[in-house]
Formats: sequence, structure tokens, C-alpha cells
Amino acid sequence: MDLRERAEWVLKNFTWNPQGGNDPFWMKTEQRGPCQVKSTGELDIILDCIDRCPKDFQGWIVEIGTGKGGTAALMAAKAVFHGGLQVITMSPDLKPEIDIELEGLKEVVNYYNVKSEPFYEEFKKIIGDEKIWFLYVDGEHTEQGANKDLNLYYPHVAEGGYILCHDMTMQRVRNGVEKFMNEHPEFKRIITKHPIQGLYKRYSPLKNI
Ligand SMILES: C[S@@+](CC[C@H](N)C(=O)[O-])C[C@H]1O[C@@H](n2cnc3c(N)ncnc32)[C@H](O)[C@@H]1O
Repeated sequence: MDLRERAEWVLKNFTWNPQGGNDPFWMKTEQRGPCQVKSTGELDIILDCIDRCPKDFQGWIVEIGTGKGGTAALMAAKAVFHGGLQVITMSPDLKPEIDIELEGLKEVVNYYNVKSEPFYEEFKKIIGDEKIWFLYVDGEHTEQGANKDLNLYYPHVAEGGYILCHDMTMQRVRNGVEKFMNEHPEFKRIITKHPIQGLYKRYSPLKNI
């Protein structure tokens, strides 16, 4: 299968987990069985944000906290069809379920086995002047952790681009995110059908995009 066929395969091969409650969503990987990704509501938000990326945009999707790699694989599959996007995903634990390479999408996804803070200097060198279209914050689930990740990576988010913060049901995560957002009015919350997650769009004070 070529890259586009692989990406199509990943995007199509989702199935509800019959055992799971709480709206879990699973992706079947060819080699290793199910790999948990997000609830449908959150997946729709992620896919929609990537769909909104302008066709001529050359840049990045960044995920802080890879977990089992399901969401990274999905975002990478979307990136294939955009053409100008690449995914960076990072986490300190390389779990065996990670399926990014197995799904044959490594041309568009770069996994780094590292924490967000020590990785930041290398990250800057990798992306250079390019911007992040979609920043997905799902790493250290503490007030300080969420706040630090936002403070480090937000300068690279493009005007018109998005930040999605996962697990805002956790008070400590919400505190870290809200503290950051209160200090950064250029990011405005977007109310979604899945309000427990925090979706923010970066607005330009000049262009109003
Ligand atoms: C809930 S899982 C992420 C799930 C994944 N985003 C998904 O959608 O499938 C949290 C991940 O964050 C990682 N993590 C924790 N602290 C981190 C940090 N400081 N930097 C990057 N990743 C971190 C954990 O190792 C774990 O892989």
C-alpha cells in the first residue's frame, strides 16, 4: 500500500469498542489489535480542526503526550491528505501499543521519546520559521504541567490555528489551562459539542481571523 492508501485505511478502520462504556473509540491496527483513541466527539473536533487548515499552509500538528499513538496515527492520516502538514508527537514512555510506524505513516509523523520541556530547544530547530496549525496538549496532567506546555509551545501556533487541551475535567489541568488563557486573550475558547475539552483558536488582532 502506498502512503495515501495507508492513510485511507487508518481513517476508515475505526470501530466502537463493544466492551467499553464512556464513549470509547478504538482503532483496529492490522498487527496488534485495538488501539484506544478518543471519544467520537473529541475525534470530530480534531478532524475538523485539521480540515480547516488552509490548503497552502506548510507546517505542523503537535501532540504533547503520545499515549498509545492512536490519535497521532489518525492526525498523521489526515495530514497525508492535506499535503502540507507533518505531525510531531512526543512522550517519555514508548508503550508497546504504539502503532505509528506500524501503520506506515512515518513519512508524515515524527515520534520523539522525550518530555515536552527538554525537547523544546530541539523542537524549535526542527520547525524553524514554520508554524503549528493544531497543538494538542495531553501530556503531564498537572496544573504546572499543562500551564508549562502551553507557555512553551504557544508562540509557534499560527494565527487562525488551534489549541486543544485534553482532560479539562481534571480541576488541576483546568487550572493550568485557564491560568494560561487568562494571560493570553489572543486565544478565544470555541464552544463545541464536547465541552469538557478546551478548544481555543488563535485570533489575529489585526486581521480578525
Ligand atoms: C493520556 S496519554 C496521551 C494519549 C494520547 N494523546 C492519545 O490521544 O491517544 C498521556 C501521555 O502523556 C505523556 N506525558 C506525560 N508527561 C509528559 C511530558 N512532560 N511531556 C510529554 N509527554 C508527557 C505520558 O507518557 C503519556 O504517554
